[in-house]
Amino acid sequence: MPNSQDVLDRIESEKEQDLEDLKDYLRIPSISTDPEYRDHVLRCADFLVDQMRGAGLTAERIETEGYPLVYGEWLGAPGAPTVLFYGHYDVQPVDPIELWRHDPFEPTEEGDNLVCRGATDDKGQSFAHLKGVAAVLRERGKLPVNVKFIVEGEEESGGEAIDAFVRQDAGKRLACDCLIISDSSMYGPGQPSLIYGLKGLAYMELKVTGPNRDLHSGTFGGAVANPLNALSHILSQLQDRETGKILIPGFFDDVRPLEAWEREEFGKLPFDEAAYKEAIGVGELWGEEGYSPMERAWARPTCDINGIFGGYQGKGAKTVLPSWAGAKVSMRLVPDQDPAKIAKAFRDFVLSIAPPGVTVEVTEHHGAQPVLIDIQGPLVEAAMQAMEDVWGKYPVRVREGGSIPIVSTFSTVLGVPILLLGFGLSDDALHSPNEKFNISHYYNGIRSVARMLDRLGNVKP
Ligand code: BES
Ligand code: MN
Ligand code: MN
Repeated sequence: MPNSQDVLDRIESEKEQDLEDLKDYLRIPSISTDPEYRDHVLRCADFLVDQMRGAGLTAERIETEGYPLVYGEWLGAPGAPTVLFYGHYDVQPVDPIELWRHDPFEPTEEGDNLVCRGATDDKGQSFAHLKGVAAVLRERGKLPVNVKFIVEGEEESGGEAIDAFVRQDAGKRLACDCLIISDSSMYGPGQPSLIYGLKGLAYMELKVTGPNRDLHSGTFGGAVANPLNALSHILSQLQDRETGKILIPGFFDDVRPLEAWEREEFGKLPFDEAAYKEAIGVGELWGEEGYSPMERAWARPTCDINGIFGGYQGKGAKTVLPSWAGAKVSMRLVPDQDPAKIAKAFRDFVLSIAPPGVTVEVTEHHGAQPVLIDIQGPLVEAAMQAMEDVWGKYPVRVREGGSIPIVSTFSTVLGVPILLLGFGLSDDALHSPNEKFNISHYYNGIRSVARMLDRLGNVKP
């Protein structure tokens, strides 16, 4: 097997250009959830097609009912394994914008950090795939494996476009021997990680309606049900305050318990509780009784209120009995919970405890299936070795509390090992103001991919 030194030297000499290209990518505000950004999202897809072509791939936009997919391939290594790379080119909205230190879409270097919306999630991480492949192709004129890229534009808005495409494709165009995804964080600085489990999601919205207008809370208060009181009453019954258990009937029915080896491995991971609390500014951790913080975050289902609205929000005091109230509630799910079944259980429960005098409506937003991935075999081993070559440490096996909706579909349709190998760090502030990606991690990501190609090329498919 080549030692990859030729390519590592090439990467070194092209660092500046690789960073400039990433900055250009980041400057495009591809916010998929906000229709006002539509033209930018489309422009971002075109940018990526150009970048893929520049890297030496055959590339095109695949139109869908939503935003286009960007597909690229280089299939010049018959008999060698085929590696599929997935990523997303869309990003989260930027609000609250006043907390950004500068324009969210002007990539700014602050020491080793590149600060910009999308820097880590997922432009920076998935662009490293492309730049790794590009470096090998430019240096050698060929690759040791076949590669395919599928990059979507609606991961952050729960779009169904890629799901429909993957199902209908049924492993033809996307046929591969393994799938590599970099859209997550490493367990800690210098500690690469292979994620084998992602949570699913059921996202609900509640609307509680009372009187036909806001009322004087003295004149009418006590005689008329208050929608915000009613909403609080409902929300307070979702979780037991003592044990942290979620109280929706049937919620835990399909929860697959943590296995003994998982609890043992998680328990061995270095975990500095004081630093964890300090980083997020809380004095105490809290969660489901009987589980460690890591077990709760990675492998136990949760229920969180994401927002509550209604009533008087302005300065001072206004004595008002609001006409309506609302809340957004997300439930993060673990195998084998089913988002549709959980959404129904939530709705039934909420309606059953709705107090009299108000109308309660429950609607469902996009969801995601939870997934556990079988991470075994020579291709997985080769990729792990490559990570160790570059980062100096063998990856630890972990799970994650976040969701990447398409992964469960990939897992069912493609039936190949899925390698969730993130290059981010837990302080990257994804979805938050001043999102960043370490520039050194970008380069190490590029090196990791180049090294993986060499190591994977040695495995017989
Ligand atoms: N990259 C994240 C998911 C993630 C975050 C995985 C951290 C591992 C570690 C992804 O872009 C994301 O934000 N997913 C959403 C999905 C939702 C919109 C369906 C999430 O988890 O909230
Ligand atoms: Mn992401
Ligand atoms: Mn995200």
